[in-house]
Amino acid sequence: MIRSVITGTGSALPRNCVSNVELAERIDTSDDWIVERTGIRQRYIAGEGETTSSLATDASRKALEAAGVAAEEIGLIILATATPDHTFPASATQVQHALGCGGGIAFDVQAVCSGFLYALATADSMLRTGMAKKALVIGSETFSRILDWEDRTTCVLFGDGAGAVVLEAQDVAEDGPGILATRLHAEGAHKDLLYVDGGPSTTGEVGKLRMKGREVFRHAVVNLAEVLNEVLDEVGMTGADIDWVVPHQANARILDATARKLGLPAEKVIVTVDRHANTSAASVPLALDVAVRDGRIKRGDMVMFEAMGGGFTWGASLARF
Ligand SMILES: CC(C)(COP(=O)(O)OP(=O)(O)OC[C@H]1O[C@@H](n2cnc3c(N)ncnc32)[C@H](O)[C@@H]1OP(=O)(O)O)[C@@H](O)C(=O)NCCC(=O)NCCS
Repeated sequence: MIRSVITGTGSALPRNCVSNVELAERIDTSDDWIVERTGIRQRYIAGEGETTSSLATDASRKALEAAGVAAEEIGLIILATATPDHTFPASATQVQHALGCGGGIAFDVQAVCSGFLYALATADSMLRTGMAKKALVIGSETFSRILDWEDRTTCVLFGDGAGAVVLEAQDVAEDGPGILATRLHAEGAHKDLLYVDGGPSTTGEVGKLRMKGREVFRHAVVNLAEVLNEVLDEVGMTGADIDWVVPHQANARILDATARKLGLPAEKVIVTVDRHANTSAASVPLALDVAVRDGRIKRGDMVMFEAMGGGFTWGASLARF
């Protein structure tokens, strides 16, 4: 059967790392408050010349190298981002140009923090229907540029970065690798809990991120537990069959609560929120790359991805690595 298999991972971070202590010198906050409420200790902030497409390109190069795939072999690039370089063209086209693999399909997907899950599902469908053979699926963000640095309830939570995977259509056995099941959801009624107060068709300005954190938290735990169970039910598995969960890295307490609901031990959850903060669509592929490169996630492991973000949008995907 044809499945979409992750054959390489890569990630990229801006040069500038900002600790909670450094933030507390500029904003009315403290290392203790941020660590206790979120688990975040530091974040990377894009500097001059570092953009969503440049970070995405760096992450993609590393993923291509890990997969042993040449840029010219890539027929599809899907970049998940809520912070594109420009309103248009899609940042994916700039990545395609920078990598030197023009001519194939390239577009952006906008599902905020669930963006990578949406992009992965779209690429999976396109590969399985033969529209391309090899794809780059990327999450890349520069949220620092849409933060209100006067609003301590949001600006301490986010960071910049990129993660990428090479996804290849392969003819595999039933027990072989690949994406096994995905479920995605959206519920637009909750827009006002997490949104950007601008945009090309409203104010004409980019705008700043606004969030009612406590309410987002409540929805996240419920929605994530539900969608994880939907995916497990679809493949007839339980939490005990999962080797690793690679969650969206919003908040250590959401990660703990979700793992508890699934009956998963904390050791099975890949956590990078302490180092990267919330990098929106980049957080899942960034965390995946960390855990692949440090040797935790190995070939044959059962890996669950999950995310929830503005919209709301949320989803989960299960893959045998
Ligand atoms: C944002 C979040 C960490 C806030 O934690 P919380 O326990 O809900 O805290 P509250 O917003 O109720 O604020 C509690 C107090 O801390 C204060 N506070 C808020 N931000 C602060 C900061 N950076 N530093 C110090 N104090 C802060 C508030 O002013 C409030 O003070 P008050 O009680 O005197 O009014 C938490 O709600 C959260 O993680 N939500 C989910 C957000 C998320 O993951 N979003 C992305 C989804 S993709």
